[in-house]
Amino acid sequence: MAPKALDYDSLNENVKKVQYAVRGELYLRASELQKEGKKIIFTNVGNPHALGQRPLTFPRQVVALCQAPFLLDDPNVGLMFPADAIAKAKHYLSLTSGGLGAYSDSRGIPGVREEVAEFIERRDGYPSDPELIFLTDGASKGVMQILNCVIRGEGDGVLVPVPQYPLYSATISLFGGSLVPYFLEETANWGLDIQDLRQSVVQARSRGITVRAMVIINPGNPTGQCLSEANLREILRFCYQENLVLFGDEVYQQNIYQDQRPFVSSKKVLMEMGLPFSKEVQLVSFHSVSKGYWGECGQRGGYFEMTNIPPKSVDEIYKIASVSLSPNVPAQIFMGLMVNPLKPGDISYEQFIRESKGIIESLRRRARLMTDGFNSCRNVVCNFTEGAMYSFPQIRLPPKAIEAAKKAGKVPDVFYCLRLLEATGISTVPGSGFGQKEGVFHLRTTILPAEEDMPGIMDSFKKFNDEFMEKYEDHRGYSRM
Ligand SMILES: Cc1ncc(COP(=O)(O)O)c(C=O)c1O
Repeated sequence: MAPKALDYDSLNENVKKVQYAVRGELYLRASELQKEGKKIIFTNVGNPHALGQRPLTFPRQVVALCQAPFLLDDPNVGLMFPADAIAKAKHYLSLTSGGLGAYSDSRGIPGVREEVAEFIERRDGYPSDPELIFLTDGASKGVMQILNCVIRGEGDGVLVPVPQYPLYSATISLFGGSLVPYFLEETANWGLDIQDLRQSVVQARSRGITVRAMVIINPGNPTGQCLSEANLREILRFCYQENLVLFGDEVYQQNIYQDQRPFVSSKKVLMEMGLPFSKEVQLVSFHSVSKGYWGECGQRGGYFEMTNIPPKSVDEIYKIASVSLSPNVPAQIFMGLMVNPLKPGDISYEQFIRESKGIIESLRRRARLMTDGFNSCRNVVCNFTEGAMYSFPQIRLPPKAIEAAKKAGKVPDVFYCLRLLEATGISTVPGSGFGQKEGVFHLRTTILPAEEDMPGIMDSFKKFNDEFMEKYEDHRGYSRM
């Protein structure tokens, strides 16, 4: 009998090509060990609540009331919920067409999109049009929607940073496009060199690829760097010259752990550049409720804003969004709450500020603890996590370790991370899952474990690493920095 469509051999080859290391071999082994009763510290995904971060009180109160609107009719509601949460819940319910159980417009609730536009205007100082803002189920869905519109076939290339967050490589594979890598420079604090970028485009063209888009992740995942305004300007000028649409992945914009380079959006820099750039460069910017001090990954709230995208294309994107009917409505309310937060004088304001500041300040301390911890280890070098949620140390593996990995049939950094997992229960992602230069090895860990657990985790990492290096070091040099 002919193979059925869902038999493995007849599946869409693009699906089989997708690789997704964040939930790959390491994650599977960690899950097995957990089932066997071993304590696992899951630092493989930027999933703050899974590592104990408590949700902010106010947004949960509002969404709880939206989910259970009959509570609003209860005479005792004021004993359970503060007046500002009650008022906000009423506000959001009034924006829906039938509460949380009803589909919304496929682009998202108009009132929430207006709140997003107001947020962007306050943040950047330039107008934002709610008609060009679509709410999505997490930033991921938005990225997928737009990549789907850009990629017409394998001759279409998308410039993606290496190391990169595998959403991009996976989605480009899935849609049958070509990933065109550009390398971030570790010795320059994961900066981006425009000459290298040009080189990547030239090389791709020589292979017959039309480069159509470029992705930047700012602040970076897994690399944690914050792009300077000057760098953003160079990138936007490059996109103008090369006629590329820029994907500005800005989901970590609240996660900043240094003061020299505060977050600046690609949109703001583009507007500041003036003509012709501000009217010519096509930009799609993404944001999410999953990160920052919200960390509401499970709620799946995101948005994208389109700049300089012609109305007919926006209509097509709307049409594609309509195929899924509507983004999750509770997620849209989380997004509204994130972009339109409490103001001084609101009853819940002090508590909100205490909670959100507490989270960000602790993350800043944890970023420091982790970087310093890694840098105190033998054969480990690590750039400071300026932003986002990850530490991405380079592990300088001795040749004997690389040989042992080969013998075990493993990529060297996978070998190291598996050993680390078995010895300590720390579940990381090998650098090869994000891409790295040939012969250089990394691992990625989040900075999310509880602050009080951090010294213990770093001690056990150090102990493991010392023993590993002791076992394999033979003074024949290292994988290169
Ligand atoms: C760079 C980057 N973009 C997008 C996402 C996805 O975010 P969301 O949960 O909103 O889909 C993540 C999640 O870790 C990420 O790191």
